[in-house]
Amino acid sequence: MRIKVFTLFPDMLRPMLAQSILGRAIAAGLIEVELIDIRDYSKEKHRNTDDYPFGGGAGMVMAAQPIVDAFAANLPDPYAGRRIYLSPRGRTLDQRVVEELAKEEDLALLCGHYEGVDQRALDAVIDEELSIGDYVLTGGELGALVVIDAVARLVPGVLGSDESSEDESFTTGLLEYPQYTRPADFRGQKVPGVLLGGNHADITAWRREQSLALTLQRRPELLDAAPLDDHDRAMLSRLMRAGEVEALLDERGVACERLPLMVADRWPRAWFAAFVPEASRKAAKKQCFSGRRHRGFLWQAFSMGFIPDFVEGDAAWERWQGRGIQCCLLCLPENGLLYRLPEGIAPEALARFGCAILADEALAHTWMQTGSPARGPYYCDTNRLHP
Ligand SMILES: C[S@@+](CC[C@H](N)C(=O)[O-])C[C@H]1O[C@@H](n2cnc3c(N)ncnc32)[C@H](O)[C@@H]1O
Repeated sequence: MRIKVFTLFPDMLRPMLAQSILGRAIAAGLIEVELIDIRDYSKEKHRNTDDYPFGGGAGMVMAAQPIVDAFAANLPDPYAGRRIYLSPRGRTLDQRVVEELAKEEDLALLCGHYEGVDQRALDAVIDEELSIGDYVLTGGELGALVVIDAVARLVPGVLGSDESSEDESFTTGLLEYPQYTRPADFRGQKVPGVLLGGNHADITAWRREQSLALTLQRRPELLDAAPLDDHDRAMLSRLMRAGEVEALLDERGVACERLPLMVADRWPRAWFAAFVPEASRKAAKKQCFSGRRHRGFLWQAFSMGFIPDFVEGDAAWERWQGRGIQCCLLCLPENGLLYRLPEGIAPEALARFGCAILADEALAHTWMQTGSPARGPYYCDTNRLHP
């Protein structure tokens, strides 16, 4: 793979590219990284590459001319690879995107600096914008290094053994299981016995379970897209019933953070804005935005309160439309925790929607089954509904 990096600060990248796995891969010719100094293409007297933004505003903008000329001088026309501008506005880099990029023979990476790049340069020479996360860096160089590092790992031969990249977090769609090395007993902390027993089937099963549990606990939304077999699903259900969910629910701040996470992607805020009445939203804000835990409840309340107004053609739900179920749910943080399902709404119906919302029937089911005052904040009390 050949990667060309267009930057004003090539020296920022050099040390990283000379070390460790990347350094060895480059030395062995498995990947080629060329650093192109955009300043060399400036036609300005003092080799300037930036200027004030038209329309005013803080900071400087990288001018189009040196960038466009640098690309023209260093890339063939047409260019068979992908030309990427590192930018917080771009598609967010994740392992799927990395896998996509690793299939390319050629990549060209443009690093912005200051306030960014003149749009006309992007229009002329860029195929795609990529962000490495929802935060703002001072320049695209770190982003380019992240892309190079993540992509290089997937180039055959770069890692010691091809297997090493297959078991990692995200590659399997799940987070990776915990790893241990010698000694087997570190200051009283022992390595799980199964890893010492030498039974590979047991070890594989243990690792899978750990991956599932960690993913459920930390990034439940990943389970939506992860390739799971029946065995995995059974294991997840068991994990949920056997404590994970209880742990989540007991530690209410955590529960509220996680469970709503599952809905966040599927039920965009804009939908809530459209379907949840203004008054409910205002009430929710007032009541729920006072802290982490309450913010979680807000999502949760939204996710459930939203359904009755949204669902059409389902008599059980329609009965409750416009009758304040949302307000009731939005009051959860203040009004105590025990709520019952509205009369006439069969658990199966909730499970059906719960499934859609929670991504897992078992979890939805657990929500419904958990009826104790200490752990059952997820039911709606018919008596509290406004007639
Ligand atoms: C200070 S930033 C400019 C941010 C720009 N004004 C904006 O608000 O989108 C300077 C450069 O850093 C790089 N950069 C900043 N954040 C990034 C991110 N999250 N991912 C990739 N590149 C980033 C981009 O190349 C950008 O042109």
